[in-house]
Amino acid sequence: MLTQATPRETALSLTWDDGRTHDFHYVWLRDNAPENRHENGQKLIDTLDIPLDIKPAQVTLGDALQITWANDGHVSTYSRAWLQQHSQPTPHVTQRRWLAAHLKDNVPSFDFAACEKDAGALRGMLQAVRDLGFSVVTGVPTDEAALFKVIDLFGYVRETNYGRLFDVRVESNPTNLAFTSRTLGGHTDNPYRRPTPTLQLLHVLANSAAGGESTMVDGFRVAADFRAQYPDDFEILNTAPVRFRFQSDHADLSNVVTIIGTDPLGEINAIHFNNRSMQALNLSVIDTERFYRAYHRFGAALEDPHYRIMFKLNAGDAMLFDNTRVLHGRIGYRSTGNRHLQGCYADMDSLRSKLAVLERNA
Ligand code: FE2
Repeated sequence: MLTQATPRETALSLTWDDGRTHDFHYVWLRDNAPENRHENGQKLIDTLDIPLDIKPAQVTLGDALQITWANDGHVSTYSRAWLQQHSQPTPHVTQRRWLAAHLKDNVPSFDFAACEKDAGALRGMLQAVRDLGFSVVTGVPTDEAALFKVIDLFGYVRETNYGRLFDVRVESNPTNLAFTSRTLGGHTDNPYRRPTPTLQLLHVLANSAAGGESTMVDGFRVAADFRAQYPDDFEILNTAPVRFRFQSDHADLSNVVTIIGTDPLGEINAIHFNNRSMQALNLSVIDTERFYRAYHRFGAALEDPHYRIMFKLNAGDAMLFDNTRVLHGRIGYRSTGNRHLQGCYADMDSLRSKLAVLERNA
């Protein structure tokens, strides 16, 4: 219960009956006053028009808080619930960061036909991508380009120089080691693009070759454990600039990032790990030593069964994964067998948006 509003020099100090106080800056109060928002949520006033020395002429605390502003006599009204909500720290979604033991026999899978006709099933599938970093959709038709039907459930293709769709199978002159039968260690795709594609889809049209299992690692979990256990490793992987590059006859892509990315709140928000496209480092000798030590330990963790799950995808399975969180790889396979996947990129952004709308309407 809000009990008191005390005007100070630059802010209004509010006190609740549990003794808690929160100071709201005057410019902030005028800038965010609810009457300044259109019903569509967009702001109706220009922040730059608010005088930096704006002050209240009068403050009244009743059923709601009312402020009459000294500069123009405008009256702003704030409900008690609104003030309560804005006095709390912004909640942020914490993903369910997993170890292999959490998912080993429980890979999140969802039936394609159910996702197509049932909003609840689709919601569950998209939630797995948001919260765990990936999901498997089963029962997708094994036709070429059927992957687009999966994307149509929530968003749009992100087209690249690999095309709207790319084939993953053995090629005689591969431009990329993905198009061979070799084992691929855990990696994220295309760190040489800016921005890096946030969502990847892989659709299995055939997988009868011996081997060829898929691997997945929650890179956020590994990074969070590194932050706690090996803070110096975390620090260098979070700060050292690393250039990734891809070149072909028709493309030359380059981007500088850190192996572990964090957001302005310090939360881990991206992993870029792709040994094939990493370029020469340009660090001091001391930092080069630190970087390689950390990179070795991080790379080893990504292959550690403590973190890594392995499972075989079958024809008709499509896997969706957050390419800036989950590292994917595969075990080598016999090129005499038949293994054909189609992949494409999309955006987590549109997936999260579709999910937010489904959750709003649930
Ligand atoms: Fe890949």
